[in-house]
Amino acid sequence: MNSQLCSDKWGISSEIITIPREVWFLPRPRKINKYKGGFPAYFEKKLFELYPSEKILQPFGGMAEYGIRVDINPEVHPDVVGDAHKLWLYFKDNTFDFVLCDPPYSTDLSGKLYHTGEINWKKYTSEAVRVCKPGGYIALYHWLLSPRPASTRYDRIIVVITRIRHFARICAVFQKTRKGEQCKAPIKQATMF
Ligand SMILES: C[S@@+](CC[C@H](N)C(=O)[O-])C[C@H]1O[C@@H](n2cnc3c(N)ncnc32)[C@H](O)[C@@H]1O
Repeated sequence: MNSQLCSDKWGISSEIITIPREVWFLPRPRKINKYKGGFPAYFEKKLFELYPSEKILQPFGGMAEYGIRVDINPEVHPDVVGDAHKLWLYFKDNTFDFVLCDPPYSTDLSGKLYHTGEINWKKYTSEAVRVCKPGGYIALYHWLLSPRPASTRYDRIIVVITRIRHFARICAVFQKTRKGEQCKAPIKQATMF
């Protein structure tokens, strides 16, 4: 297929068309953690088998099982009670091997599901990229395909399906570019983020 045509017709960058992609069918609900919006069973296990990572950060941690969890809601007993948009308050640049973001999918849902506030794609992704080491990875788990944050390149797209009549999730994995590495300009961001 002509990638330029795809790009024009579907608004998908030709970059995305050539990267590895896969579909995972995973069971729900996760037995250990039935937290609303929690990852499907085995999601984190499979992801970190694919990307073995020593230092993992989950800025919207909820009740996730791997890495350091930041969450604005103290009731989930995160490692850090804090705001994913303000990671500079807690972490230095270039600290983590893998940063996995599973935010509420909109400000509206943030209020409805978690009684939390505004979700700003640009702010939380730029913080996720900042705290990630060069050559490390940032994954954005959402029901929309995320644009590529600045200073990253697409690494992989994983579509996660749990059951019929249920929205699939898209886990877009980006690699933070190393010093001096060329990277394309960020893709124009959709306003819904
Ligand atoms: C979709 S859930 C994450 C669920 C998690 N992946 C799990 O498996 O349990 C989103 C989480 O983001 C938290 N949250 C909402 N706004 C936040 C913010 N500004 N900073 C940090 N956490 C926030 C919510 O409290 C909620 O726990």
